[in-house]
Amino acid sequence: MPVVRGKDIEVLFSASAIARRNLELAKEIADRHFENLLVVSVLKGSFVFAADLIRAMHDVGISPEVEFIFISSYGAGTASGEVKLLRDVDNNVSGRDILVIDDILESGKTLKFIRDLMLSRGARSVSIAALLDKRMRRKADIDADFVGFDCPDYFVVGYGMDVSHAFRELPFVGVVKGDA
Ligand code: IMP
Ligand code: MG
Repeated sequence: MPVVRGKDIEVLFSASAIARRNLELAKEIADRHFENLLVVSVLKGSFVFAADLIRAMHDVGISPEVEFIFISSYGAGTASGEVKLLRDVDNNVSGRDILVIDDILESGKTLKFIRDLMLSRGARSVSIAALLDKRMRRKADIDADFVGFDCPDYFVVGYGMDVSHAFRELPFVGVVKGDA
C-alpha cells in the first residue's frame, strides 16, 4: 500500500485504470458529435481529470475550448449542502454545446447548479462528465452522461481530490486508511 504523509492509502482506481477509462470516455464523447464544444472544468477538484480527459479527447479528434468555473459546496452531500459560485466562466455559453467536467457526482447539487446556470444563459446543450459517481448519495435530479467509475461510499482522495487540501497530487484515487 502506498504511504503518503505518513498515512497508508488504499488504491481504489489506479493511474493505469484511469488512463484506460479516460480514452474510452473520450470515444463515448466523440460518438455524440458535439458542435462548437466548450469544456467547463469545475475547480478545484476536477483539474487533473479535466487535464487528462481533454488530451484523450484530442487523441480521438475532438478540439474543444476549455473554461473553468470555481464552485464551493458547503456540506456537499448533506441536506444543508449550499452551492456558491466563487468564479464564473469568462466565455459566452449561448448557443454552445457544453461539457461540464467534475471529479465526483455525489448529491448532485453542484452539477445541477452549473447545468441550470448554463441552460439559463442559452447553452444549446449541457452534458456532464464525472470521473466518479456516488449514486447512493444522490439528492438532486441529475445524472452524468459520461461516468468514469461507480464509486463506493468512501471519502476518496487523489487525482485532484483532497481532504483538507492534501493528497491532490496522487496519480491514483484512493482512501486514507490511517497511520502507516
Ligand atoms: P455534490 O454532488 O454537490 O454533493 O458535490 C460533489 C462535490 O463534493 C465533488 O465535486 C467534490 O468536490 C466533493 N466531494 C464529494 N465526495 C468527495 C470525496 O469522497 N472526496 C473528495 N471530495 C468529495
Ligand atoms: Mg468539486
